[in-house]
Amino acid sequence: MAEQRTSIHGQWSSRFAFILAATGSAVGLGNIWKFPYMAGENGGGAFVLVYIACIALVGLPIMMAEVMLGRRGRQSPINTMRTLAREEGRSGLWQYLGWGGVIAGFFILSYYSVIAGWTMAYFFRTIGGTFDGVTAEVAGQVFGNLVSDPERLLAWHTIFMVLTTVVVSRGVEHGLEKSVRFLMPALFIILILLVGYAMSQGAFMQGVHFLFDADFSKLSADVVLKAMGQAFFTLSLGMGAIMIYGSYLPSDASIARTTFTIVVMDTLVALLAGLAIFPIVFGNGMTADQGVGLIFKVLPIAFGQMPMGTVFGGLFFLLLLFAAWTSAISLIEPAAAWLVENHGMNRIYAAVACGMAAWLLGVGTVLSFNLWAEVTLFDKTFFDLMDYLTSNVMLPLGGLSIALFAGWAMSRNASQDELRLKLSYHLWRFLIRFVSPVLVALVFLNAIGVLSFGRG
Ligand code: PFF
Repeated sequence: MAEQRTSIHGQWSSRFAFILAATGSAVGLGNIWKFPYMAGENGGGAFVLVYIACIALVGLPIMMAEVMLGRRGRQSPINTMRTLAREEGRSGLWQYLGWGGVIAGFFILSYYSVIAGWTMAYFFRTIGGTFDGVTAEVAGQVFGNLVSDPERLLAWHTIFMVLTTVVVSRGVEHGLEKSVRFLMPALFIILILLVGYAMSQGAFMQGVHFLFDADFSKLSADVVLKAMGQAFFTLSLGMGAIMIYGSYLPSDASIARTTFTIVVMDTLVALLAGLAIFPIVFGNGMTADQGVGLIFKVLPIAFGQMPMGTVFGGLFFLLLLFAAWTSAISLIEPAAAWLVENHGMNRIYAAVACGMAAWLLGVGTVLSFNLWAEVTLFDKTFFDLMDYLTSNVMLPLGGLSIALFAGWAMSRNASQDELRLKLSYHLWRFLIRFVSPVLVALVFLNAIGVLSFGRG
């Protein structure tokens, strides 16, 4: 019976440890680097509103489903899906959900590591005083110089991948719990400090209006898809990362309560990052649509001006690096666990093999900012393509499949037994059967042009 199944990879020491690890996975570059530039490029308020709606109506129920499937299966996502499908008398094809997730994890990690490398480079630049009294123009040049140098990017990308591989090879219980316990509160504090600085800079309300005044004329099918994709990305949903962390969750922990906590924290971090960044953008006469370089061009200006900016700035990039690290770990974990389960591979080899594969793919992203900047497919560089394909296609489709399995393929008894909710079970079941899958399908089909709402 599912009740007695245990994971061969270990278990979190408590519900709290799971919250920490899953928050570590969710909170990362997606909140602090990606959310602000996506909001900036896609018109602000309306994007943010759709994003928040997706978090509540799609992200929350699907995250509960993903944790639930993981805890019931207690294996890597591929094997979990195979076991659960068999138990429910469903097709073995469901295991491909796990496979899709493993591939999405590699794709994401490949570029995630490159961007995490930028935060390392920025840590050293900040503490070295590069940004003392810096202007917007010089900050822009520093960023341009970094990304136009393939060797530097490759070096940082390599270092980050090694760091990630080392932790995964030691197993999830070691180190991860402890570092997140300290990291999350510290990141929160420094973000609040930055928001405080932004408040003192005159353009604070302009930033607030940009983030929260919804101008619906800015919404298009593609913007809605991007907002939904961002909701999946930021919550680490749709690829098995949360499923595998769920597989290490003690049986007596409440899935609903833990999930809710994680979702709220993740959303708060993203909104705080937005509130810190946009006032500085407008206060320095910049525009919001700076793209992937946004935080790297904007935050150094603030650190260069504020008292003790070198210390706070250094701390900020260091914490961001940790946040990226705890997310990257969860990107390899599903694949590494599968190699251990199915190929009897030792965890160290499994982690190294996964890290190397992702590293190799990441070279494409490194080059897309310089030597291959002009090489495009569908008008997208290698990095853009990886990002679009994972956030806007693979994760939503993975999430849709999770919702369909949990809501339709799995028996009511099984999900009720695992979730152990009373009244709110009906709400969850309604959301996971009807609301989440229908919304994901509509947004997706509309964006690829099969449907045509709001396309003029
Ligand atoms: N949620 C992470 C972030 O916001 O940075 C990124 C991520 C991690 C996405 C793990 C997907 C995943 F499986």
